Amino acid sequence: MRMLVSAGPTREFIDPVRFLSNRSTGRMGYAIASAAIAAGHETALVSGPVSLDAPPGLAALDRVVSAREMLAALESRIDWCDALVMSAAVADFRPERAAQAKIRKSEMPDSLRLVRNPDILLALLPRKGNRVFAGFAAETGDPDPGAADKLARKGLDLIVANDVTRPGAGFEVDTNIVTLIAPGAAPEHLPLMSKAEVAARIVEKIEALAAAVASEPGRR
Ligand code: C5P
Repeated sequence: MRMLVSAGPTREFIDPVRFLSNRSTGRMGYAIASAAIAAGHETALVSGPVSLDAPPGLAALDRVVSAREMLAALESRIDWCDALVMSAAVADFRPERAAQAKIRKSEMPDSLRLVRNPDILLALLPRKGNRVFAGFAAETGDPDPGAADKLARKGLDLIVANDVTRPGAGFEVDTNIVTLIAPGAAPEHLPLMSKAEVAARIVEKIEALAAAVASEPGRR
């Protein structure tokens, strides 16, 4: 299979030195790209700014900074892939204007006007076809109800849900505790595992979902 994986945060600049972002380190997405390569899939990675080495064996690596750049990179690769794993923590908002020069402290406004970034999964949904689309739901608290809603709203085949407040899960750690949720199936609650092990399980799940799509009468 050809797997397209997004990873890391995005940065949304206020001026050339300041930005809005989030705590994503990219470790989960990079682990998924590594697991996909290890399973023999041609793998392309679109990465926000992270301090990780590129997994050896990638078919392509696009380094991007903002959500809009990430969308553009994924748009140009979507037709190539059989499965998209959207593990990037895309910033939902950006400053309405990015100043060309550093804003002096004395001139910084008391409030910033934000505008909504494009939802990348929703933007790519019209081009999904028979591709498997997987997304993530990082929640604070029980992730399952929000994740099930996201699955339907974003037309996904799989959601990887986690409660980022649980010790050993979420940002800045090498382990995760996730639930795999696919339409019409009982949620699979996985125990605390390394991100490498979680990634291998996600890749196996995507392989199974792709096989199911391929065997559906009238498709492929
Ligand atoms: O909408 P929400 O952020 O709760 O959903 C998370 C999922 O949606 C993740 O897979 C994330 O990569 C994706 N996402 C996106 N575009 C955004 C925000 C999130 O594709 N602007």
